[in-house]
Amino acid sequence: MGTFGRRAFIRGAVVLLGSAALASCTRPEQPEPAGQDSEPRALPIPPVLEGSLVDGVRVFDLSAQAGAAELLAGVSTPTWGFNGPHMGPTLLMRRGEQVRMQVTNDLDEMTAVHWHGMKLPAKADGGPHSPIEPGDTWTAEFTVDQPAATLWYHPHPHMKTALHCYRGLAGALLIDDPVTDSLALPHAYGVDDIPVVITDQKFTEDGHLDEVIDPDLGLMGTTPLINGQANVKLDAQARRLRLRVLNGAGMRFYNVAFSDGRPFSIVATDSGLLSEPVEVEYALLGPAERVEIIVDLEPGEEVTLRSEPLSGNFGIPEGNDKAPDFGFQHSFDLLAITGPEGGDAPGELPAKLDPAAAAVPSVDRAPEREFLLNTFQINGLTMDMERVDVEIDHDGPEVWAVTNENPDWPHNFHIHDARFRVLELTGTDVAQVGTYGWKDTVAIPPGATVRLAVEFGHFPDPTIPYMYHCHMLLHEDQGMMGQFVIVEPGEGAELGHMGHH
Ligand code: C2O
Ligand code: CU
Ligand code: CU
Repeated sequence: MGTFGRRAFIRGAVVLLGSAALASCTRPEQPEPAGQDSEPRALPIPPVLEGSLVDGVRVFDLSAQAGAAELLAGVSTPTWGFNGPHMGPTLLMRRGEQVRMQVTNDLDEMTAVHWHGMKLPAKADGGPHSPIEPGDTWTAEFTVDQPAATLWYHPHPHMKTALHCYRGLAGALLIDDPVTDSLALPHAYGVDDIPVVITDQKFTEDGHLDEVIDPDLGLMGTTPLINGQANVKLDAQARRLRLRVLNGAGMRFYNVAFSDGRPFSIVATDSGLLSEPVEVEYALLGPAERVEIIVDLEPGEEVTLRSEPLSGNFGIPEGNDKAPDFGFQHSFDLLAITGPEGGDAPGELPAKLDPAAAAVPSVDRAPEREFLLNTFQINGLTMDMERVDVEIDHDGPEVWAVTNENPDWPHNFHIHDARFRVLELTGTDVAQVGTYGWKDTVAIPPGATVRLAVEFGHFPDPTIPYMYHCHMLLHEDQGMMGQFVIVEPGEGAELGHMGHH
């Protein structure tokens, strides 16, 4: 209520001050999210898909399909989803398992489905070289051989990823292992261990998704959804929650915090648990980044998970109207939380989480490569499915130094089949960038360089490339992406003819 009143007041003030005030106003007005005027709905919890065991292989069946869903209460919006009209089930896997993904395309256009954050053979990765034509089923088989983590899956068709994600094709993919089993952390899915998948949309007057692609902002939405719905609340069933927050939005950065500024603990980043919890008051997530956070609640109290404006505007010059701010100046309510009726106060968090996560790869003799991001190219080149940009012919770590050369644009950087540590962030004053723990995606402020110690999954195959790219989906679709292959020592890439049959 308070928020609504303040926004209404600000809009009224702008009208009274007239066009002179508007002309001198350097910041775009805070957009008004849709669907805030009705009663909040209970946070939807995506159903779990555990697959079925067939001869020791865990088999998952996914179908990409069209449907309609109430993203806004009482409004039916045509959408896409996996195994349902909108978004996808949460896939559960355990480390060590062999899995088979069977993805059927029940849409009327080609798509592709990528397991973001997974180390796996290139032919199972689901990048643009694995198109699934309408009516076809694509099968990907791999062994889950990495620590417990919150990963996700989403479409990856060449040049169309943003639209396919925007229509709702995305879901969480959770890996468990003995380390996470052994920790005193909330771990009951949907009870105290809650997926919080953030996406955002724009709507037309008649409740359809607004699919007009802005030349600067792409399909950046102004109405955030959590697990596929706007304006949601969670009546907590426990005094300690683990929120697995995934920024599944295509363009917008979210600086998540609680409405009362309370501290919370980050226990995991993109690629898994930290070595020990980190207490923070906010966590900035660029598109595709994840954090698992622990928050404690008093009985019956009300607090809201929000996205707060970023001090310093992510290093983007203020008042430059050619530099859209990607939401760095906006605030959004994401999830209203009410504490449980009672229950004992939670104890101390474990002081140590995953001790193995502390190690930083030794990179003294590692090959070092440089990647310069500049609208919308990497090292001066636009993505070409026939060109291999990087050949990796060894099984050790590499140092990738990635620079955002644009003085007034944000970017981020994601590497397939890999996890990395951020060794260094230079060239910026922005303090909010998440650089700790193992990650697969990192935000890069204007002018900044990140030096990454990268560990790749080692599955030599000269015929199919993996991708690295900016995960702001307009940029990715515009060609801010490159390809690498992993080959045996002394071998080179031989792309052959995949991707076009
Ligand atoms: Cu989230 Cu190329 O991927
Ligand atoms: Cu990926
Ligand atoms: Cu970018």
